[in-house]
Amino acid sequence: MYVELKDINKTFHNYKASDHVNFGIEQGKLIGLLGPSGSGKTTILRMIAGLEQPDSGDIFINGNRVNDIPASKRGVGFVFQNYALFRYMDVFDNIAFGLEIQKKNKKEIKDRVFELIKLIGLEGLEHRYPNQLSGGQRQRVAFARALAPKPQLLLLDEPFAAIDAKVRQELRSWLKEMISRVGITSIFVTHDQDEAIEVADEIIITNQGRVEQMGSPVDIYKKPTTPFVAQFIGQSSLVNDYTSLIGFEQVEGMHQAVIRPEFIRIAKQGELKQYLSAAEEGIVAGIAFRGDNLEVKVQVKGQSFTATRSLEKESIQVGEKVNVLVYRLYAFDDSKTLLLDNKAMEDRNSVYI
Ligand SMILES: Nc1ncnc2c1ncn2[C@@H]1O[C@H](COP(=O)(O)OP(=O)(O)O)[C@@H](O)[C@H]1O
Ligand SMILES: [Mg+2]
Repeated sequence: MYVELKDINKTFHNYKASDHVNFGIEQGKLIGLLGPSGSGKTTILRMIAGLEQPDSGDIFINGNRVNDIPASKRGVGFVFQNYALFRYMDVFDNIAFGLEIQKKNKKEIKDRVFELIKLIGLEGLEHRYPNQLSGGQRQRVAFARALAPKPQLLLLDEPFAAIDAKVRQELRSWLKEMISRVGITSIFVTHDQDEAIEVADEIIITNQGRVEQMGSPVDIYKKPTTPFVAQFIGQSSLVNDYTSLIGFEQVEGMHQAVIRPEFIRIAKQGELKQYLSAAEEGIVAGIAFRGDNLEVKVQVKGQSFTATRSLEKESIQVGEKVNVLVYRLYAFDDSKTLLLDNKAMEDRNSVYI
């Protein structure tokens, strides 16, 4: 493992910001650290960078224990949430900053800075000041500045948080391409699951100072191993009594479940040509446009589920009585999840109409 955290604990006053954190990252990977606000993401990054000390546990980078190595000697580049560019320095000087500190010679600095300006596509803008750049351009400069001293590891803390939605989307793919081109092992923090799923090779999910799960975006999405992950990922609806739903039987010890929008089909009356006996009746409680489809809230047996419906289909109204087919759900107890399929859909003979 290129970066390894072993049983890291960190308490601020009474709050456990890191609670037995363990994970390992392979060289060259782009890792997304994803979790709600306050779950300990920034604390993990700052401890890896050496800006914060763990109370206990060990941090290894490239096989070396770095706990006692100061931040400036860890070979780690850091991109902060709020750009943190120097306002009184132009683009060139901002990128050159880390190299000046290392007292590199002028020629070497100039070559490296221009190499990076080219990499980030800001040729000709080297004498602009941060306030003469767009948010996206500033974040590119912050990226180049972090890379200038050739770190072995790049850490980015919510790098797109302050940028508006459209530019943010462009920057995500830009960042992914840049990182793979440079080939640097990177960890970026985000609280936005779409961002993590789109950009990261692997995702680490944090909750209340703990690592809940680590895996590929597909694994995290398809095989959530903890109740928290099942609820946090996807637009999940919590179901307090899944056994009241047709086709789902009680699993010992598991009383609650979550349903993802893609686990549900909402059909106008008469629209469902099969599996009618496996479907519930529901009432449409709310409809919202979400780009290319509709997000529909539906009430079933006193519980509220979120589903999607294509705009191409015949329209439905709030208050309309609909058929709600729940294909599957995640049942869970305190520590694990189980994917259950609607049993009433398995017995084809009895459900065909
Ligand atoms: N320097 C600090 N002093 C006191 N509490 C802190 C400090 N840094 C972080 N915390 C607390 O630790 C918890 C985790 O914070 P943080 O790592 O910033 O979470 P995240 O980045 O996931 O939002 C928060 O409750 C925060 O208030
Ligand atoms: Mg943070």
